[in-house]
Amino acid sequence: MPGDKSISHRALIFAALGDGTSRLQGLNTGDDVESTRRCLAHLGVPTRRNIEDLSEVVVEGSGWDGLREPSEVMDAGNSGTTIRCLAGLCAAIPGLSVLTGDETLRRRPMLRIVEPLTAMGAQIEGRSGGDLAPLAIRGGPLTGMKHDLRVASAQVKTALVLAGLRASGRTEIREPGPSRDHTERMLDALGAPVAAGHGTVSVSSVGSLPAADRRVPGDVSSALFLVAAALVVEGSDLEIRDVGLNPTRTGALEILRGMGARLEWTVTDGSGGEPRGTIRARHSALAGATVDPALVPRAIDEFPILAVVASQAEGATRISGAGELRVKESDRIRTTAAGLTALGVQVETMDDGMIVHGPSDLVRGEVDAEGDHRIALAFAVAGLIAGGDVRVKGWSSVETSFPEFLDVLGKARGRR
Ligand code: S3P
Repeated sequence: MPGDKSISHRALIFAALGDGTSRLQGLNTGDDVESTRRCLAHLGVPTRRNIEDLSEVVVEGSGWDGLREPSEVMDAGNSGTTIRCLAGLCAAIPGLSVLTGDETLRRRPMLRIVEPLTAMGAQIEGRSGGDLAPLAIRGGPLTGMKHDLRVASAQVKTALVLAGLRASGRTEIREPGPSRDHTERMLDALGAPVAAGHGTVSVSSVGSLPAADRRVPGDVSSALFLVAAALVVEGSDLEIRDVGLNPTRTGALEILRGMGARLEWTVTDGSGGEPRGTIRARHSALAGATVDPALVPRAIDEFPILAVVASQAEGATRISGAGELRVKESDRIRTTAAGLTALGVQVETMDDGMIVHGPSDLVRGEVDAEGDHRIALAFAVAGLIAGGDVRVKGWSSVETSFPEFLDVLGKARGRR
């Protein structure tokens, strides 16, 4: 699997705050992580990419004092993690930083970071009352405080943790649900002043973090496309090794197992604070299920592919409590339902979820990814079992997270 995208962003950012040289291996090679690397370069952080192995990057960190007011507008591309996390970093850098992104990212909500960072002392301007990028951030002295998040969001949490690493006093963030905790784990492994537990994270300031070499595990969200393919393609028996198995990311595996999937995962290594191991998935007879809303934050990126799998399950699969899907790289309730409908599946949508009826013989058709990598990948998997060609419009969006998808799929298909 390609390196975990979420961990890759954080590895770069924390290495930038490092005191010296960090060698990062197994980084995700997609456009999103590259956006973070480029923005950090604008903030004065030298990085070197190994041209023979694009997943290896060396970062020369110099702590907070090494970060400078950027002389150019920073482009986060399609990456919500880049713009939101770096907004937290920029809030603490004296001077003006401007962050923007592509057409899709400029439509995504930013008040969720703008409001709490402003409360800590940053000045931030954006379109639509501060909700939309471009964001102009005047950073400076910040004051630690308590934040109660309205939505479970690891991007918001990380933005506030980063600001908290430069704020006076303690910064405490309370979440309504368990969003991914890579930030807390990485900081803890680095010996930073972070405490996490019972839905709360708190941090206090540090001048720098220790530099550290790191090997990023494979991306479980990307692995899910292969897992899904194995579950629905007859005769499949697939093993994926060295993939991240952080419990805040395994919600989709649990949902699929609840639908009867022949699916096992085993942690084989926990070094560096991130569990990693092996997933085995076999072709399965699946039954529709009602997804527990409590599992949603732990499966938030996997709903497009879960919905494709649900189209092959006997009976209805009900997803609710997932309103956040409307503000991802696309409105994933709308784009997933439109794709399934185009392939002949019966789907109902609600404000916060959808009901997928199965089993359905998928027909040939065209699906518009609308610039969303996870929609493109999910419907490529649908193409493996459809009665005719599935044409994915906007396929190049897979460059965001999983440029290697067709190669990896080809290898998995070749072995018997
Ligand atoms: C991410 C957090 C999630 C997820 C996104 C990556 C991260 O977003 O959907 O793909 O790396 O922190 P939210 O934090 O908005 O839930």
